[in-house]
Amino acid sequence: MKIATILGLAGTAAAHGYVSSIVADGVTTSGWLVSYWYDLVNHVPIPQTPGWYEEALDLGFVPPNEYQNPNIACHKNAVNANVSATVAAGGSVKFQWTDWPHNIGPVLTYVAKCSGDCKTADKTALKFVKIDESGIDLTSQVWAAGKLMADGNSWTTKVPKTLAPGHYVFRHEIIACHGCTSLNGAQNYPFCVNIDVTGSGTANPVGTVASSLYKSNDPGILFNPYVTMTSYKIPGPALWTG
Ligand SMILES: *[C@@H]1O[C@H](CO)[C@@H](O)[C@H](O)[C@H]1NC(C)=O
Repeated sequence: MKIATILGLAGTAAAHGYVSSIVADGVTTSGWLVSYWYDLVNHVPIPQTPGWYEEALDLGFVPPNEYQNPNIACHKNAVNANVSATVAAGGSVKFQWTDWPHNIGPVLTYVAKCSGDCKTADKTALKFVKIDESGIDLTSQVWAAGKLMADGNSWTTKVPKTLAPGHYVFRHEIIACHGCTSLNGAQNYPFCVNIDVTGSGTANPVGTVASSLYKSNDPGILFNPYVTMTSYKIPGPALWTG
């Protein structure tokens, strides 16, 4: 088991990344750490964090041929977190990634309201509302993923002020598009975090189940990024700005 730990952690150095912590209204909380998986295997107690458990041990991605699979919701074999962070509607959540190497592709953030506590929510039934999206700056040709890298591998999403208070699953995602010229070449890196929203908003926008968010031939999923981009259709349902 010790060997598995060493190999597993060595494997992370060259690979992609994941959301290792969040900052909600200035309060930093650990996300799900891949090393926790090895701790669990080795019967080492792990802390409860608002980041969902997942098993992308290679720090890999969900490919387009799994867009209709439950893994697209909150990454591979995801299991609900048992605790939540808190943010006020109108406040912000910063998602801190580990090493992130791919500078082509959009960055998106969704929220799904749980009918009760998010620790028992069914990830295949959660309805995700897109509250933040960024594709490419056509003037500079800098992709959102490149901006994330320039910002210390972090992304900050503002929570619409009108969003009704409640228990939410925030779904933050990078879609790495360096391979988007090929069918099944996109790489989705979704991560889920339980966050309670406070405030006096009254909006309960209608969302989309995870298995209906994307199709493998969406124009923002299957396209050639190695040209001067003159337009880009960000994947997923319409943005809700509150
Ligand atoms: C939440 O608690 C359940 C039941 O104890 C457990 O199976 C699950 O792994 C926990 N989730 C996380 C992310 O630790």
